[in-house]
Amino acid sequence: MSRLLESDIDLIETQLQDYEDLFIRQTGYTMEEIAQKAVGLTKNTKRIKTAVISVTSGLGIITGFSQAVGAILRHCRVETLIAEKTDVAGLQQAYLSKCGITFLADDCVCAAFGIGSAVHSDNGWATGRGFAAAIIEAMRKQGINPRQERVLIIGAGPVGQAAAHYIAEQHALPVICDLDNNKAACLAATLEHSTWISSPAPIHQFTYIINAGTTGDFITGEDVTEKTIIAAPGMPCGATAAAREKATVIHNPLELGIITMYFNCMKQLED
Ligand SMILES: NC(=O)c1ccc[n+]([C@@H]2O[C@H](COP(=O)([O-])OP(=O)(O)OC[C@H]3O[C@@H](n4cnc5c(N)ncnc54)[C@H](O)[C@@H]3O)[C@@H](O)[C@H]2O)c1
Repeated sequence: MSRLLESDIDLIETQLQDYEDLFIRQTGYTMEEIAQKAVGLTKNTKRIKTAVISVTSGLGIITGFSQAVGAILRHCRVETLIAEKTDVAGLQQAYLSKCGITFLADDCVCAAFGIGSAVHSDNGWATGRGFAAAIIEAMRKQGINPRQERVLIIGAGPVGQAAAHYIAEQHALPVICDLDNNKAACLAATLEHSTWISSPAPIHQFTYIINAGTTGDFITGEDVTEKTIIAAPGMPCGATAAAREKATVIHNPLELGIITMYFNCMKQLED
């Protein structure tokens, strides 16, 4: 997991509805609906009070991070407490305020945990599945049946792994690529109907791409056409401005992952 910068998230709260509108145009669904598909929730699910707690360990708090997570949860009509206290004191505040879920992040992990229930969601897992569900629905919106369609997955870390599993579950064909060929081969070996290719991938040969890598601006305007769909959780965004102009590029630094984490917890509570 790479650490977000303050400049990655400072506009999330003010631009959330505009971003949601773009997301709906790209996928046909709200982020909440895509998140529910990503975790296998089929019915409208209830909301429970949720806390966001700042953690001061390691490199410390990213200014605005808890506020951005809180704004994203409130966007989904989740009653959200942003704890004034940090760390363990913040967790105690969440417990005493009767929050059922808490979101916490340090330099290595961003996760949600149940308070009083054994539920958990990891941001990498949720982000991978959320963006994979988004590209599948964006394909369907353009009249493409994802079954048997190749989807290039760049990056075989936790986000790419989760994305690859979801793509395989949808009976599309994951093609994995990582700077570390061994990592790509290992991930492909865990999935049926999956293959891997050595890096760098011939991006122009693919119409459907999930970028779960950490390299910025490497998918250029020449690599894509108007039909290309890229789901791009990777930070910074892998697609150049020219590629984003031409192709459908689904990219957000936090929103879909956080929403998917919340519904992943709710799914476990409902099961
Ligand atoms: N948008 C979000 O909500 C969100 C949430 C979580 C993580 N992320 C981002 O998603 C990305 C992946 O997260 P992760 O935890 O899996 O990271 P990771 O560092 O564990 O794994 C990334 C993998 O991508 C590979 N890689 C990097 N650049 C590549 C390239 N150009 N071509 C091929 N492979 C490449 C690396 O070798 C590595 O194996 C990171 O950029 C992370 O910051 C975004």
